[in-house]
Amino acid sequence: MIYNIGSINADYFYNVSHIPRPGETLAATRVERGLGGKGVNQSVAMKNAGSSVRHLGAVGEDGEWMVEKLSSAGVDTARIVSLSGPSGHAIITIADDGENAITIFPGANRLIDSDQVQLWLATISATDWLVLQNETSQQRLAAELAKSRGARVVYSAAPFDAEVVADILPFIDFLCVNEIEAAALINHFNVKSLNNLGVNALLITHGSQGAVYHNFEKKLEITVKGIPVQVVDTTGAGDTFCGYFIALLSQGKDPLAALNIANKAAALKVTKLGTADAIPSLVDVLDFNNER
Ligand code: RIB
Repeated sequence: MIYNIGSINADYFYNVSHIPRPGETLAATRVERGLGGKGVNQSVAMKNAGSSVRHLGAVGEDGEWMVEKLSSAGVDTARIVSLSGPSGHAIITIADDGENAITIFPGANRLIDSDQVQLWLATISATDWLVLQNETSQQRLAAELAKSRGARVVYSAAPFDAEVVADILPFIDFLCVNEIEAAALINHFNVKSLNNLGVNALLITHGSQGAVYHNFEKKLEITVKGIPVQVVDTTGAGDTFCGYFIALLSQGKDPLAALNIANKAAALKVTKLGTADAIPSLVDVLDFNNER
């Protein structure tokens, strides 16, 4: 079972010609609301990749629709809590070239307390995985608890905060970052390469260029090239990649095969507007023709 203590956001997508510059006002040509949050996106990706996923998180009084949507995607939502105050939401500005800028309001995601985390993880064991991102509270406690019970702990260092990474790093088996976060980590820890950080495994996504997976224990490095597609919206592509890859690894899939499937899943996501709602099914991913 994969436990994911992750954010649950209402994503508001605004299509604009370009990302506004400081002081600029722009009229959006379209607005949409969908389900998102780095946590939810990864839960949906992991479920679509064929894993059993228990999402652990918090919404506010306005969040029932998000829990229902996540549940109808096949994710176990029974332990999601409802807290007083607003849910998390994200303002996502999407430019014509598919690039984005995101502002999040954390809301209930950052109100999760230590008692709740202990309750959620009371049953986690050595056969389970715990997935975390940097949009919820109590991440270090969660990682420490899961690690002490022998579970594998995966951390996506996004939104990036070097101090948070430093705090949680001793309890992490597997780190997911993009290339900007990887460079910031090298800089912050003043190391030559990320294999000096002490994590066993590392996934670095490089946007349209592909991704690299390192397993330092096994001295393994695998690279995949990005698949050229018609870009509509890059939001959530990293979550899709990471979610698919973790799920397939946790199912015992060979890392090269897992990386290739995750790469296709992320490429397909980019062809659609949206986040959790736009994450492709495994059937669509396996049907996806690399050559086009
Ligand atoms: O990675 C994309 C996600 O970041 C969006 O779904 C948004 O909610 C923010 O958390």
